[in-house]
Amino acid sequence: MTANIIDGAAIAAELRGEVAETVRRLGENHGIKPGLAVVLVGNDPASEVYVRTKAKQTVAAGMASFEHRLPADTSEKELLALVRQLNADPRVDGILVQLPLPPQINAGKVIEAIDPAKDVDGFHPENVGRLAVGSGGIVPCTPLGCLLLLRHVRADLTGLDAVVVGRSAIVGKPMAHLLLDENCTVTTAHSRTRDLPALCRRADILVAAVGRPEMIRGDWIKPGAIVIDVGINRLPPASGDASGKGRLVGDVAFDEAREVAGAITPVPGGVGPMTIACLLSNTVEAAKRRLAGPGPKG
Ligand code: GUN
Repeated sequence: MTANIIDGAAIAAELRGEVAETVRRLGENHGIKPGLAVVLVGNDPASEVYVRTKAKQTVAAGMASFEHRLPADTSEKELLALVRQLNADPRVDGILVQLPLPPQINAGKVIEAIDPAKDVDGFHPENVGRLAVGSGGIVPCTPLGCLLLLRHVRADLTGLDAVVVGRSAIVGKPMAHLLLDENCTVTTAHSRTRDLPALCRRADILVAAVGRPEMIRGDWIKPGAIVIDVGINRLPPASGDASGKGRLVGDVAFDEAREVAGAITPVPGGVGPMTIACLLSNTVEAAKRRLAGPGPKG
C-alpha cells in the first residue's frame, strides 16, 4: 500500500480563500478591515522569512498588515510598551510577537501582556486555559492546522487512538487537547517515553512534533494510520549539493512511512502552509468577535 499524500498547500489555499471571502463580507457589510500586527525583534533569518510570508498572505487576504521590526538589543520594557500600544489600537485585531525572543526579554511576560482577545497565536495563559476546559478561546495555529488536515482525511475521529510525539506548549500539548475534544484516546509521548516505537505502532493517528530529522521510522507506523509530520528540519548539505542549503525533512522518515501509512503529510507542503492560513483565520475570527461586542465572559 502507498499512502495518500495530504496536500497541505492546497488545503491551506482553500482556507485562505475562505478567509478572504469573510474579509470581503466584513468590509461590505460592516465597513471593517481586520488587521494583524507582527512584531519581530532582531534578525533571525528563519523568523525573517516567516514574518515576510505572513505579511504577504495577510495583505493577499484583504487584511491590514502592521509590521514592527525592532533591533536585537530592544529592552523588555520597550517591547512591553509596544504590545500595550497594539492592545489599544482599534485597527489591530491580532498581535503576533515572533518567537524566539532575544535573551534579555522574558517571553512569558510579553505573551501575558497581549490582550487575550488579540492573541492570535493562542499562547496567552487565558487561551491555553480555555482550550484545556474546552470553552471558546483562540487555538494555536499549528495544532489547529494539523486538526484541519486530519478532518480532511476523516471527518469523524471518534474512538481513534492518537499518539502525539512531543510535549511543547506550542504544538504537543494543545494538539492533545484538540484530539481529546474530537473523542480520540490520546497519549502524549516525549523524550522519556519507554519503547516509543511500540507505542507509535498502536496509533491510528500519529502526530510527530519533536524537531528531530526522520526520527520516526516506517516500522513504527501502524498500517493505514494517518501521519501528521510537524517537523521542519534542514539536513546538512550533501557533498556535491550546489545550493549548499541541505534538504528539508520532517520528523518522519517519509519514504519509509508512505509505504505503510494510509495518509501522510509531506515536508515541505504539509503542515507548514496550514499554520499561516490558520493565523489569518484566527485574526478574522478575532475581528468578528470584536464586531459582535463583549459577550458573556464564561
Ligand atoms: N516562531 C515559530 N513559530 C511560531 C509561531 O507559531 N508563533 C510565534 N509567535 N513565533 C513562532
